[in-house]
Amino acid sequence: MGNEIVLSGMRSSGQLHLGNYLGAAVNFVKMQDDYQCFFFIADWHSLTTKHSPLELQESVKNVLANYLGVGIDPVVATIYLQSDIPEIAELYLYLNMFAHKGELEKTASFKEKIRSKGVSVNAGLLTYPSLMAADILIHRAKYVPVGKDQEQHLEMTRTFAKRFNHVYETNFLPEPMAFNYGSELVKIPSLNGEGKMSKSDNNGNNAIFLTDSKELILSKFKKAKTDGGPSIKNQAKPPEIENLFTLLQYVSSKETYSEFEESYNNCSIRYGDLKLQLAKDTDTFLAPIRERIIGLKANEKYLKEVSEFGKEKARISAKATLEGVREVMGLNYFG
Ligand code: TRP
Repeated sequence: MGNEIVLSGMRSSGQLHLGNYLGAAVNFVKMQDDYQCFFFIADWHSLTTKHSPLELQESVKNVLANYLGVGIDPVVATIYLQSDIPEIAELYLYLNMFAHKGELEKTASFKEKIRSKGVSVNAGLLTYPSLMAADILIHRAKYVPVGKDQEQHLEMTRTFAKRFNHVYETNFLPEPMAFNYGSELVKIPSLNGEGKMSKSDNNGNNAIFLTDSKELILSKFKKAKTDGGPSIKNQAKPPEIENLFTLLQYVSSKETYSEFEESYNNCSIRYGDLKLQLAKDTDTFLAPIRERIIGLKANEKYLKEVSEFGKEKARISAKATLEGVREVMGLNYFG
């Protein structure tokens, strides 16, 4: 295992879907053998908008079971809850001294959030980027695998680290970079033909969650958007059909994919058959993962052990960073 540090956080908003799995989690599983990996559940970030304590508990446990279920090994990587690491909160306080009000107000995610109805524009929401910077800098991570939507936050993390280093004439805080593992970014499309799979879109009905049952998978595919079918040989596929083929590529065999490709090109395709095939193959693809997640979710004792073990490992690194930060800032009064 290399010594370079990779860190990624996931908000505690419940279940992972096929897009999270193929686009991110699969890579986390590969990375854990090549880097020193920290994967955590950003439960404090969930508090920036209204939350229900019971739902929070449910979703944190779900995310934990999902990440373990897809194959992140809690012994090899470090998996922990953000709220178990008080050092993050202290670093957040310090980093807030380097976060300018104007730039926080201009952050795209903040502007978008405050436009939505019923959101209280609190300081936690405004300082979301400094908390995220604290998450990353607490382990002095070098690589942060995140999607496009998080790049601005990462850029701000670099800015805060730079300012800190500049003010204290040090290079103690490294500037983290976005990280893509493997050659290309995998984007799993939504079932409605537009954009990528998302948990919030249409109450999750346009996404396939890792724990969806066979019946649910089938009913979601049945509702997936299609057009009237091809009428000219070898005609280009409209986006909603292209999307179904993209999914087919991930869950089905090469032969199956070619058969449907051929029937599309010679205009004999029946979308009903395509949907049935997709549902069947998605179910087969997800079945072992689903079983593991359901088993883990039922094993509260194990989840607790994993989180305690992760907390211990994460705090060793967090304490070391914070000690250094305090020293650099002059907060080590009596040595
Ligand atoms: N903001 C990230 C998201 O919404 C989650 C997150 C919180 C995160 N802290 C992080 C991601 C640190 C990477 C590193 O997806």
